Amino acid sequence: MHSYKDFAYFYDKLMEDVDYKKWFEYVLMILKRLEVTPKKVLEIACGTGNFTKYLCDNGYDVTCFDLSEDMLSVAYDKLNIYRNVIILKQDMRLFNINKKFDMVISVCDGINYITAYEDLVNVFKRVKLHLEEDGVFIFDISSYYKLHEIIGNNTFVEENDNIFYVWENYFDEHDNICELYITFFVKQGSKYIRFDENHIQKAYSIDEIVNALRRAGFKNIDYYESFTFNKPNDKSERMHFIVRK
Ligand SMILES: C[S@@+](CC[C@H](N)C(=O)[O-])C[C@H]1O[C@@H](n2cnc3c(N)ncnc32)[C@H](O)[C@@H]1O
Repeated sequence: MHSYKDFAYFYDKLMEDVDYKKWFEYVLMILKRLEVTPKKVLEIACGTGNFTKYLCDNGYDVTCFDLSEDMLSVAYDKLNIYRNVIILKQDMRLFNINKKFDMVISVCDGINYITAYEDLVNVFKRVKLHLEEDGVFIFDISSYYKLHEIIGNNTFVEENDNIFYVWENYFDEHDNICELYITFFVKQGSKYIRFDENHIQKAYSIDEIVNALRRAGFKNIDYYESFTFNKPNDKSERMHFIVRK
């Protein structure tokens, strides 16, 4: 079963309630607090480029990549009007771009898709290699609480205009893996076309993330409940990590 294949073409419709502008403004607040003004930015797991668009609109020199060709195809249609973006297909576990960046960023769960701990350490090592000495790495994760208590072992049925979809989720307590089986029915003319996707996300604890960052050589690590500057609590659903060498 696929991940981010046919779904890519409906992703933006189903993400309509995600406020990427607010997300971008939060990142600007982080940068202001750090007193840094990055110019060269690498966005990893950029998906369909919803956050990338804000980076482009605000004059950053942007490189972005994702693993899914279908997500990138939608991103390309959205971003090809800009002259300040390079779009690549890369796997964040192995990526190699012959350039260093002032900021590396990943938005909305990309890191949860890295399900093996050693791969997570590798992702962070790759990021460190691509960061300038005074660069900043910003990413968020869906919390263990969200994947275990809210998403895991639950079924959701949703309808959005012509798209009807069901997610059946299973949480593996041994490996802390949340498996999402999503069945979409998309109305085309008088018929509904069905397709299925399978997404696998890992529920990491804060300690696991911090230890992986340390193993990759990062020393300056901070984290907050997303969109705030408060420490996360037991019921935080998303948290942001702000990391420097
Ligand atoms: C929830 S989407 C987020 C997309 C985008 N950042 C956004 O905010 O809309 C997660 C993305 O991670 C990408 N992804 C998953 N594993 C990846 C990997 N190993 N390397 C690069 N991208 C990956 C998926 O293809 C998908 O586009």
